[in-house]
Amino acid sequence: MRRFRRLRANEQMRRLVRETHIEKSRLIYPLFMEEGENIKTPVDSMPGVYRYSLDRADEILKEVSDSGISGVLLFGIPKQKDDFATGAYADNGITQKAIRYIKQQYPDMLVTADVCLCEYTSHGHCGIVENHKILNDRTLPLLAKMAVSLAKAGADIIAPSDMMDGRVSAIRSALDENGFTDIPIMSYSAKFASVYYSPFRDAAQSAPCFGDRKTYQMDSANGREALREIADDIEEGADIVMVKPALAYLDIISRASDMGIPLAAYNVSGEYAMIKAAAQNGWIDEKKAVLENLTAIRRAGADIIITYHALDAAKWLEESV
Ligand code: PBG
Ligand code: ZN
Repeated sequence: MRRFRRLRANEQMRRLVRETHIEKSRLIYPLFMEEGENIKTPVDSMPGVYRYSLDRADEILKEVSDSGISGVLLFGIPKQKDDFATGAYADNGITQKAIRYIKQQYPDMLVTADVCLCEYTSHGHCGIVENHKILNDRTLPLLAKMAVSLAKAGADIIAPSDMMDGRVSAIRSALDENGFTDIPIMSYSAKFASVYYSPFRDAAQSAPCFGDRKTYQMDSANGREALREIADDIEEGADIVMVKPALAYLDIISRASDMGIPLAAYNVSGEYAMIKAAAQNGWIDEKKAVLENLTAIRRAGADIIITYHALDAAKWLEESV
């Protein structure tokens, strides 16, 4: 008889043959920075997650810095929104200010800046809108402008999440022309139109005020198309590609894991909210659920995991080793 159980007899034996590990260095914590003063507002649908103003951000930044994870993915929430997302590429915009502050105070923290217009547009769409249509080519120059502005502020990685076609090459050219040849692009390549983003939209106040994002984000039924999106972004110059969300798309992560380029997975807000809700009800053990999920994302083939659980996970990983 083949006795698989021999290698499961005790924790020492199981550790010896364990195939997958989560390293803290692979984790990135998404952080919401809101314009204004003295703000630490809890996000109702994401227990444990807050929006901070810059003057109160040290609390969370210290925690990130002490945790041993690699860094943050920044989302800015401006005071003013308009049709052209002016705040997104203002050199004194909230995200730009946050990046400058973080890089000054915490030079070793990797700061990835999300590039998208939806937090800055009055209509909440990720691009320029005309007659209720989201215009691809008119959006590209603004994304490029935003990317350059974030790079100027000191961002270490530029992460476009808008899903306009051609944005990686538009951003790459703009970065290069402005002397940022060494700033990598982490592209949200296979980003699906997902219900699991809804808590994020509460947090970032970025829900579209009409329609949905299905004309630019991917249909959740499509696997082959995800691989083409990824291949295309690699051709356009992406340095890291991403699959998002993570848990309902482990097959995509798995298929994208051997394309010869680092792969990130975004364990999104709704995935976080589900665990939190069940845990708060006493229906699930949060620590075990989170570590199982992160292991699954890693096992599927993600090199980098962006997750709201990052700080908790970093603590739990210390405990269980
Ligand atoms: C902005 C953006 C979104 C997320 C990351 N960047 C929201 C969206 O596309 O509506 C979602 C992240 C999450 O749910 O945690 N385009
Ligand atoms: Zn967007």
